[in-house]
Amino acid sequence: MNADLIERAITKKTKAIVPVHLYGQMCDMRKIRALADKYRLVVIEDAAHAIEAEREGIKVGKLGDTACFSFYATKNITSGEGGAITTHKKKTADLLKMLRLHGIDKSAIDRYTKSYRHWDMPLLGWKYNMDNIQAALLIGQLQRIDELWSRREKIWSMYEDAFFNVNGIRILKTVSDSRHSRHLFTILVNPHKRDSILDLLQKKGVGVAVNYRSVHLLSYYRKKFGYKNRDFPVAEDIGKRTISLPLYPGLKDAEIEYVIKTVMDVVRENV
Ligand SMILES: Cc1ncc(COP(=O)(O)O)c(C=O)c1O
Repeated sequence: MNADLIERAITKKTKAIVPVHLYGQMCDMRKIRALADKYRLVVIEDAAHAIEAEREGIKVGKLGDTACFSFYATKNITSGEGGAITTHKKKTADLLKMLRLHGIDKSAIDRYTKSYRHWDMPLLGWKYNMDNIQAALLIGQLQRIDELWSRREKIWSMYEDAFFNVNGIRILKTVSDSRHSRHLFTILVNPHKRDSILDLLQKKGVGVAVNYRSVHLLSYYRKKFGYKNRDFPVAEDIGKRTISLPLYPGLKDAEIEYVIKTVMDVVRENV
């Protein structure tokens, strides 16, 4: 999210700003918070990629009204499925606790500790609470979060050194004075060659993905909101060019070197 472009997109109908800290790079939360205060908007941080992130000394979640974290299987720490929401406001926390449990105002522990107590259901919620078994999976990873990050940081710098200044490859810069959570390493290639590059890399055993083709052009959003080509040209261009490379702590140095060499060979033939 380019914080300098937000103000002109705000209308009377705007209720919230939802900064997505994409790939692990935090958005400019100081600017976003100031704008939100000026227009009395809520800020909901999408921190699914960014649990370890900081920018200019501000940690993810610090300036948002809420920040949503994901512990889905592909994320930096995972319980298979699940997530967490942080907030500074007790009222929001209490509401979220009820909403995740059908709308019930007492959790099982509140209902049964020492003796049974009645409970009420003031509103209609969902069954979105994390169970203890999932939470147990996360505890060990939380203790190792810096160690896991350091390994991804190392892999990231190997990729960065290798792909810096290579004809046919663009890489994204990390914003200065920020701690990137190193969730997804992406390269940008020729949009007309991207899909052939994807095929060739997979044939050579390199696991790749596309994060993401532009959302407004997916069928649902086209149909629901009438979006069309060129409505969001930057997202569209990145969506046609981007490729995510393998980035996880278990990658061995020899595997990283293989990825680098294979990407170089394939792109050289497909500039
Ligand atoms: C940027 C981003 N936001 C939100 C989500 C959703 O997280 P969850 O699957 O835990 O609901 C994901 C991925 O799953 C994501 O990549």
